[in-house]
Amino acid sequence: MSKATVYFGIILLLAVVIYFSLGSNFHNSTTSDLNFGTFSMKIPRYWKKIEFDGIDSYIGGITNETDSLTFDYGWYSYNLSYENREKQLFATDTINGKIALITKPKEVGNGTLGIYIEEAYKKNRFNFLGKNILDEQIVFEIFKSIRFKDSDTTLNSKSFGFTDKITPYSGRSLFYTHCASCHHRNKNLFGPAFASINELDFKKWIIDTTNLGLTGMAKFGIRYHQKAFKKLLMDNDIEKLIEYSKVST
Ligand code: HEC
Repeated sequence: MSKATVYFGIILLLAVVIYFSLGSNFHNSTTSDLNFGTFSMKIPRYWKKIEFDGIDSYIGGITNETDSLTFDYGWYSYNLSYENREKQLFATDTINGKIALITKPKEVGNGTLGIYIEEAYKKNRFNFLGKNILDEQIVFEIFKSIRFKDSDTTLNSKSFGFTDKITPYSGRSLFYTHCASCHHRNKNLFGPAFASINELDFKKWIIDTTNLGLTGMAKFGIRYHQKAFKKLLMDNDIEKLIEYSKVST
């Protein structure tokens, strides 16, 4: 092998290494943060923001020239209830601490791809929808990046669990939003496993404020639970959480 061949080989190798290391940097910079005031999201660089004038809500969207998604942020945003149940699938999951109803068509590219967040920020609701979109994965990544001013980025469902029923505020989503930082369904974490807690204890710990006695003095004991959750959870939310605690996996 001549010296020239060896040098050439080394240069080629360096070129390949540099190409790939730059390539991965490019990859990291392919999304940008879009700020809409009280909320923000991350979008791929080839998507852009669009804005319209809304009367009593904030309307806008994003587009990549082929596909577009529009949002409506305000008191009366559409909650997906008119979506065709025959043709759509639904999931209720947690995105950055907010319970989100997500829909996708049963057949890719033939229907609505959308998200609805009822308790978005203050009294505002949020929806964000597109039609007949082929690249669902990119849109789901955008959905997962949606954050409001008070969002908790540590609380997220692992994946969207689609079914053919609309189940807003399901036990699973309530659990992920409010309890999963300390409890697991089947394992003891910081708090005891949900599966091991009996029904009456759920009610007693969250909604019944009588008979507190001395049992409530522990740091994350009964008083903590009542203070943290009594106003957040309705009675039937407790029922849903109890139901969720009993479903076996
Ligand atoms: C900040 C952490 C934390 C969060 C969040 C939390 N818990 Fe707990 N929970 C605990 C701890 C710790 C215990 C055990 C406390 C003790 O025994 O004094 C506990 C105990 C309980 C118990 C009593 C169990 C028993 O068998 O006596 C119930 C019921 C309960 N949690 C329900 C919930 C529900 C429902 C949520 C969500 C709405 C929730 N917890 C959120 C930490 C937490």
